[in-house]
Amino acid sequence: MAGAEDTRRAAELRAAITDHNYRYHVLVEPIVTDAEYDALARELIALEEKYPELVTPDSPTQQVGSRTGDVFAPIRHVERLMSLDNVDSLEALESWRDRLARVLDGEPDGYMCEMKIDGLAVSLTYQSGVLVQGATRGDGTVGEDITANVRAIGDIPRALGAGAPTVLEVRGEIFMPVSAFAELNRRQAELGEKPYVNPRNTAAGSVRQKDPDKTGERQLSIWVYQLGHVEGAPTFARHSEAMQWLGELGLPINPDSRRVDGIDAVEAYVQDALDHRHDRDYEIDGVVVKADVLTEQAAAGFTAKSPRWAIAYKLPPEEKTTILKDILINVGRTGAVTPYAELEPVFVGGVTVTSATLHNEGELQRKDLRIGDTVIVRRAGDVIPEVVGPVLDRRPSGAEMWHMPAKCPFSGHPIVLAEGEAKARCTGGFACPSQLREYLFHFASRGAMDIEGLGYKTVDALLSNDLITDPADIFTLEPAGLLELEGWGEISVNNLLAAIEGAKDRPLARLLTALGIRMIGGTVAETLARHFGSLEAILAATPEKLEEIDGIGPEISRSLADWIGEGDNRRLVDRLAAAGVRLADPDPEERDTTLVGLSVVITGTLQDFSRDTAKAAVVERGGKVTGSVSGKTAALIAGEGGGSKLAKAESLGVPVLGEAEFKLLLADGPDAVGILNGSD
Ligand code: IVH
Repeated sequence: MAGAEDTRRAAELRAAITDHNYRYHVLVEPIVTDAEYDALARELIALEEKYPELVTPDSPTQQVGSRTGDVFAPIRHVERLMSLDNVDSLEALESWRDRLARVLDGEPDGYMCEMKIDGLAVSLTYQSGVLVQGATRGDGTVGEDITANVRAIGDIPRALGAGAPTVLEVRGEIFMPVSAFAELNRRQAELGEKPYVNPRNTAAGSVRQKDPDKTGERQLSIWVYQLGHVEGAPTFARHSEAMQWLGELGLPINPDSRRVDGIDAVEAYVQDALDHRHDRDYEIDGVVVKADVLTEQAAAGFTAKSPRWAIAYKLPPEEKTTILKDILINVGRTGAVTPYAELEPVFVGGVTVTSATLHNEGELQRKDLRIGDTVIVRRAGDVIPEVVGPVLDRRPSGAEMWHMPAKCPFSGHPIVLAEGEAKARCTGGFACPSQLREYLFHFASRGAMDIEGLGYKTVDALLSNDLITDPADIFTLEPAGLLELEGWGEISVNNLLAAIEGAKDRPLARLLTALGIRMIGGTVAETLARHFGSLEAILAATPEKLEEIDGIGPEISRSLADWIGEGDNRRLVDRLAAAGVRLADPDPEERDTTLVGLSVVITGTLQDFSRDTAKAAVVERGGKVTGSVSGKTAALIAGEGGGSKLAKAESLGVPVLGEAEFKLLLADGPDAVGILNGSD
């Protein structure tokens, strides 16, 4: 039987992992490294294996594949999208070949070698040559309907050439070319916004945009690599022939794929992929090897989750050596002090790495890293570069152990390490410029108050001109002060103020996330908001009341209590309320239902609303805003410059409302503007 502590820990891990999944897959802004995530997942799996009674149906261990957000409708795949078994050495590749040769009574008659594209798997369906459906892989059985978004991707043909069969379902990988990713980040830097982490996450995030126009703006591409369900197609003897045919129909087929004979040629292909890992305009995380002859594939068959006739050769994370020039520290929004390595620039894993987090002093000492050391840097196909350790025989004489400074270099306040914690903290609160900057950026970010235009660059401008000293000041910013900022004109000022105005009305869970209370991320915030309904009720709840809730343990309730007790937090809440920020969700009974069941699309620029505020106004009244006009759209709200959507609405007979009518709709409901309350 699991004890109270294990039960509590399992609930805490479930909440944390669910939150990280959401940040990774939906917000596309992970806050932990893959290694940290894996450690949490392993701990939960171990607990559940030891005490099976701790497994809950909603445990993240019970969900396969990527978590689905709740924006897109589910789609059941006609044929399951299988995954692939992996090998990571040539010996293991040869064992796979041996097993296959045993099943087939001889080595396969040729292999198809393909790059394993590091992107997002999708299934595309064409009916009589016309693209009718796009779906994500999901858990392989059920994916999400992303038809509108794939139609917006220029590289995906909407119609195939002559000879297309009645039904053609193909699988492929949507990716962002490395060059497009670099360009996107160059623009982010220009805007003073945070760079995107890597092409894969960015492609996944772009495909999951609610507005297909946004997907279309990202320069996504696709390589199609597998035939799925087909009706009325010619029969092929080989996978390579089927691929060639797909290419002739107009689908993008990777020219780097090769049909080869014998395992030696396969190994040469793998070696070449390794040697030229970053020479292509797309990222790979391995090589896929498939038995080419289709009757051999049928004979080999499948295991529970993957074909026996194919294997993925995973490329190892890349490692390079470089010089550890200095060890500096960052102070985050909660005051957490994180040492990081300043490195002699080194090209590893497809990017030039100049710094890497060292997590905390304990980790640094465990790895025995010293300034001046030659260090090994590793970057897996994914996200965060890691300093693996020093090359000891190249250590310069006199290199000394690093210690955490006693005072914060940004604020001069003491840095303290609380008993039992790994992370040291700056005690400066909002008086620490680094803490305040990070706090404000987080506060305004997408998963929190979602204030468009309030990225690092704007935050820095506001701080250096003394326009704000804490988050509540955001809501009392005056146009006059903003207009004095360099490079700011009336339009940018109005946009920012409109976005801020809209943020006063965010759901409680968003506000709670924005407050940046330790351990209270999106999922925990949702739980608390749903349970209590108002910030006051949450802040007033006793630990006993809090811990009655599934997913809330003593660590979270302690963190809440600490937060209330800390510095100026209580005053911050009062100041937010005074500035007009809504601190409670509307009572379910009092909720505005003017637009319930109504689905609208917004296009063009409105005078008195930003996209966000217009959308919030609809959603608050129970309505829905979708990205593209369909027969189910009750009205198109069209501001200045609405383009293709306008034509679409007109062709479908969907009523088009101007801004004045939109205001009337918000105030008095669909009858006031004479539209049908059609539901979506
Ligand atoms: S074939 C039954 N080919 O790898 C064959 N997959 O773990 C199934 N992938 O979800 C897949 N490039 O997202 C295949 N050339 C390629 C691939 C590829 C990338 C991904 C795909 C799949 C995962 C398999």
